[in-house]
Amino acid sequence: MAILVTGAAGYIGSHTCVELLCGGYDIVAIDNFSNSSQTALDMVERITGKKMRFYPGDIRDKDILNRIFTENEIDAVIHFAGLKAVGESCEIPLEYYDNNVYGSIVLCKAMLQHNCKRLVFSSSATVYGENNPSPLREDMPVGAATNPYGSSKYIIELILTDLFNCDNSFGICLLRYFNPIGAHESGLIGEDPNGIPNNLMPRITQTAIGRLPYLPIRGTDYDTHDGTGVRDYIHVADLAKGHIKAVEKLANSTGVFTYNLGTGTGYSVYDLVRAFEKASGLKIPCKKEPRRPGDIAVCYSDPSKAFKELGWKAEKNLDDMCADSFRWQKNNPNGYRK
Ligand code: NAD
Ligand code: WQD
Repeated sequence: MAILVTGAAGYIGSHTCVELLCGGYDIVAIDNFSNSSQTALDMVERITGKKMRFYPGDIRDKDILNRIFTENEIDAVIHFAGLKAVGESCEIPLEYYDNNVYGSIVLCKAMLQHNCKRLVFSSSATVYGENNPSPLREDMPVGAATNPYGSSKYIIELILTDLFNCDNSFGICLLRYFNPIGAHESGLIGEDPNGIPNNLMPRITQTAIGRLPYLPIRGTDYDTHDGTGVRDYIHVADLAKGHIKAVEKLANSTGVFTYNLGTGTGYSVYDLVRAFEKASGLKIPCKKEPRRPGDIAVCYSDPSKAFKELGWKAEKNLDDMCADSFRWQKNNPNGYRK
């Protein structure tokens, strides 16, 4: 029996593959490398000393999915594959719906056809939109996403819920991630965005190593303790472990289960910069800039449901996240591109 991991070469997928292999699971993986590289998979095997079975390909290709399910006994699917850039999703919304929503439908059809009924899905805190107060709880209203990327995640949550409603033998975990940062402590895998990063941590690390001249502080007049945006940063290794707990839960339960994966603590942009400077011993040049359109002041989780029902909670602190992000960027200044 194996776990099928879609988007396995990506940032969160590669870290989850490490945890799965260390936990004794067999992995069948698929990725089209639209936002990743083969090197990440090689590094996962190097870290763990174990092999996985990899199929290069696109989840929207039903023939390759059919082959995967025919050639392997798949016990459960962890579904990371998709596009994730908020800004880009406003420019090419149809690509986002095609990749994320249609891709998930093709995957679910293949699962149905091959009687595989356990699915862990990468959702996002973005589904809570801008109207709910933090700490965000799973029972709060969702769906008022502010961009096509967020809407695609919400639509997939609806589709998966309908899938369970028509077939109660499914077990589905919807994992709403907060802000994953950090990297594997080996420094061999990490986040490797294309172009100038939009997200805060890769922007900080690339500034630290001199790839970028300064860090723009996007808004200093928010109603927060120091005027900058507050977020729930979570170490990617902790996030990865949450997926193992979700797979374990689905081994003996059917239903649709929604969990926040966050730490429950909010840190501001300046908090993160200070922690990074401490961890790296470097000074990050900062420049105050206007708010980024669409950003909210504060977003952090109530992660207690995942602790109560999965026995999962984040273990690593902000210093660990900063130290690991820095090690990855320092060892790999150009990411996976040599
Ligand atoms: P990532 O881009 O690093 O990983 C996604 C992987 O999927 C990449 O390797 C990419 O090549 C692959 N992929 C994309 N479309 C594909 C397709 N049609 N077929 C096969 N492979 C495909 O992103 P990530 O940060 O690892 O995110 C993983 C998942 O978690 C995504 O669904 C993302 O939306 C979700 N998520 C991410 C964050 C975050 O901040 N990183 C937060 C919440 C949710
Ligand atoms: C964090 C804070 C910025 C960059 C996004 C997606 C979300 C999820 C995670 C996928 C904010 C500030 C940022 C910079 C800055 N992804 N900032 N200068 O926006 O909370 O979440 O990634 O599901 O859907 O929206 O994360 O890292 O972009 O920003 O000051 O150069 O850092 O304003 O307060 P965000 P982020």
